[in-house]
Amino acid sequence: MTAARTLHGARIILAQEPPDALGRLIAARWPAHRVVLIADTTVAHWHGERLRVALGSEAVLTFPAGEAAKTRAQWGALTDALLAQGCGRDTVLVALGGGVTGDLAGFVAATYLRGVPFVQCPTSLLAMIDAAIGGKSGVDTPAGKNLVGAIHHPGIVWIDPTFLDTLPLAARREGLAEAIKHAVIADATYLEWLLAAMPTLVDPAPIPHAIAATLVDRSVAIKADVVAADEREANRRQVLNLGHTIGHAIEQVSGYAIPHGAAVAIGMVAEARLAVRLGLAAADVPDRIVAVLRAAGLPVTCPPTLDRTAILAATRQDKKARGGAVRYALPAAIGRMAGAELGYGVPVEETVVLQTLTEM
Ligand SMILES: NC(=O)c1ccc[n+]([C@@H]2O[C@H](COP(=O)([O-])OP(=O)(O)OC[C@H]3O[C@@H](n4cnc5c(N)ncnc54)[C@H](O)[C@@H]3O)[C@@H](O)[C@H]2O)c1
Ligand SMILES: [Zn+2]
Repeated sequence: MTAARTLHGARIILAQEPPDALGRLIAARWPAHRVVLIADTTVAHWHGERLRVALGSEAVLTFPAGEAAKTRAQWGALTDALLAQGCGRDTVLVALGGGVTGDLAGFVAATYLRGVPFVQCPTSLLAMIDAAIGGKSGVDTPAGKNLVGAIHHPGIVWIDPTFLDTLPLAARREGLAEAIKHAVIADATYLEWLLAAMPTLVDPAPIPHAIAATLVDRSVAIKADVVAADEREANRRQVLNLGHTIGHAIEQVSGYAIPHGAAVAIGMVAEARLAVRLGLAAADVPDRIVAVLRAAGLPVTCPPTLDRTAILAATRQDKKARGGAVRYALPAAIGRMAGAELGYGVPVEETVVLQTLTEM
């Protein structure tokens, strides 16, 4: 029993059976192919051997865990390892891990022998509901994050929420910030569900599998729908940027001391307040977002030590800024985004942004 949807040729599967079933799917889709797993050392420790056996893979290629490994050097090392093992076009690369592994292994798959089949097997909540959906891959450079990469759609995205059993709570929160974002963008009922389920979702005990499955299924549906709609409705994907314009700026100004999820949480509150100030959203929208973020243990105010002018300056460098005012993805209501006619990018005057940041 598995629930599936298709996006750009990728079969996105919410797994309800052990990974042997993924092995059979891979063998059916790419007969007589050699399966190579790529995982960071942490995920390899927890899940590597079980997946290696289930997928009939000879070995697991590993690299050090953490964002610091998402580099061209690591892309080169993994590519060289594949070449050394004589891997040909009949190779299927499987990314087993969080968003770092998916982005890095995806970029290896996009470029190895000009592209080999790729499977995403996300193990972090953020990867399950965000990074593994949509086909973006890439690496960081000293000039910034995700600046070099490729679109390379996986053939299969195998989402097994039971992997979350070993995910540390701090990493779980990174994913919850994006789940809350999904609800604000597209589904008020989902936001209510998240609020009610939050005590369970942030309990240090593993998330009961039925609840984890609902969480993942709702969020994946929203991200996949938005990405699919992007082709019909130009720029729809921009809504996924909610909380990220100010969030990225906060991450940067904090010298990456504030994790992405926490920065996006603060960014969502700030941007919801911008929407109210511009008359786009009702006055209660920020409070409803704050309630869920608080329940998740995510921050809702900007640390006083962060210079507001520096944050404002950093928003200008966001890649979404194109001449003139920076464009924001802003909520019109819980479950609906503003500015459809503007490609979901609402230009906001800097004085308004600064005023909002100063008040937080
Ligand atoms: N391609 C995209 O569209 C997209 C979208 C959003 C984010 N991203 C990227 O995703 C990355 C962040 O993803 P992330 O938060 O998953 O980071 P990550 O891959 O570094 O994983 C976080 C930590 O959790 C560990 N981990 C993962 N799964 C585990 C499990 N089941 N059990 C125990 N430990 C586990 C990892 O080893 C790592 O230490 C960033 O590089 C970001 O740029 C990409
Ligand atoms: Zn994000």
